[in-house]
Amino acid sequence: MSKTTLAVRGAFLDFTDDPWKAAGRQQDTARFLADGLLVIEDGIIKDFGPYEQMAQRWHSLPERQITHIPGRLILPGFIDAHAHVPQTRVLGKFGNQLLGWLENYIFPEEIKYADRNYARLGTRHFFDNLLASGTTTCQAFTTSSPVATEEFFEEASRRNMRVIGGLTGIDRNAPVAFMDSAENFYRDSERLIQTYHNRGRNLYAITPRFAYGASSELLGACEQLKSKYPDCWINTHISENPSEIHGVLASHPGCSDYLSVYERYNLVGQKFSGGHGVWLSNDEFARIAAAGAAIVFCPVSNLFLGSGLFRLGRATDPACRVKVAFGTDVGGGNRFSMLNVLDEAYKVGMCNSTMLDGSVNPALQDLAEAERNKLSPYRAFWSITLGGAEALCLEDKLGNFLPDKEADFVVLDWTAGPLGMSWHQSLTLGEDGLSSLEQAAQVLFSMMTLGDDRNVDETWIAGKRAYKKAAPEPSLSAVRQK
Ligand code: GUN
Ligand code: ZN
Repeated sequence: MSKTTLAVRGAFLDFTDDPWKAAGRQQDTARFLADGLLVIEDGIIKDFGPYEQMAQRWHSLPERQITHIPGRLILPGFIDAHAHVPQTRVLGKFGNQLLGWLENYIFPEEIKYADRNYARLGTRHFFDNLLASGTTTCQAFTTSSPVATEEFFEEASRRNMRVIGGLTGIDRNAPVAFMDSAENFYRDSERLIQTYHNRGRNLYAITPRFAYGASSELLGACEQLKSKYPDCWINTHISENPSEIHGVLASHPGCSDYLSVYERYNLVGQKFSGGHGVWLSNDEFARIAAAGAAIVFCPVSNLFLGSGLFRLGRATDPACRVKVAFGTDVGGGNRFSMLNVLDEAYKVGMCNSTMLDGSVNPALQDLAEAERNKLSPYRAFWSITLGGAEALCLEDKLGNFLPDKEADFVVLDWTAGPLGMSWHQSLTLGEDGLSSLEQAAQVLFSMMTLGDDRNVDETWIAGKRAYKKAAPEPSLSAVRQK
């Protein structure tokens, strides 16, 4: 069968390296093309470069196969490395920190996902929200019911999205009707791995929900699964909340800290990621770095649930660099948009650098750590594109516009939303829109601190447009003026 080739023309920005490694020259890690062309063949990037050059190289490509998107900024699709599908209907629940919130709101809702119709509709809403937020890949938790996991992979497949997910095991500290046994978890996980892992764009994560909800038998089942299916990911939570951590140490005797529970079962390695890590010690950070494992920073959730301030400057210490992806943690996080995640991440970084009285936080080892807390637009957008892909070991497939990667991208409109227009007018843009990397970075910082999903105009999956923002309704005042 002959291949389908198409191209997208517009202003593009992506990253080729880690801005935390490039002190003082962060901009060198980004590429900006004011007028670029992305050539896509069967969903895979074939070529990318300045339009002028590319037009010569691709002169045989018919004009009708080129989609021109002027006045927008095109980035690789956003990666949400930690989200809970079955919490889609319960964002924004009042009044509890983690353990009370799980008990009062989350477990009662997730139990309902054993019903296939309920799960299917919720999962559809979850993916609709991802696409409307410019998120093209997620690593997701489901529930302890295989039905919810099947619906997750089936819906992702219908949309042809690159996802990581898995049956979410819990056999302690939850309602009886919600808990699984280690044997059932092993059996169901194995069936789901055999059915879904590497089918289309689906990838499987062996998923013990958290150490507080896992017996040694359940973690032992995870160890056996990882040893039998070493190619699978491992996704869990770590060190999110002080009460949770006390519970973990009490229920896993002999473990000196949270990480050592997962280490005991040989789970901490290249494809391991733990959500949150708010209360990790310096020693735990160093062990995670040495193992090549990742932490997922979820600032919207950490603030909503009052969990604490993640030490991004410590995690990014060049002497023992931890891989860090960013996540919404929906519904602990009360927003789907990774732009909102960046906004809160920026504020967490600012808080971490100073004490409330204005002095330098004495917990910071040095001023360099304070500087690493500062989330520039380069660090921010690298983290939700190439950085997220690297943390999840997906950098061969996703993260930037290099040839052979999958053509998932987001089309951003910096003029959208109530604040977008004021911003737009304060920029001295020429007729053709953005003309320099500095200008693009300025616009990105404004979108992450002032914007939200309204700035997402289009989302493309494997070279096909999967979402287009609806035109705004005319406002009542505009109608009256007519
Ligand atoms: N730890 C265990 N389960 C959960 C969950 O659903 N959300 C968050 N934020 N933390 C958890
Ligand atoms: Zn979570």
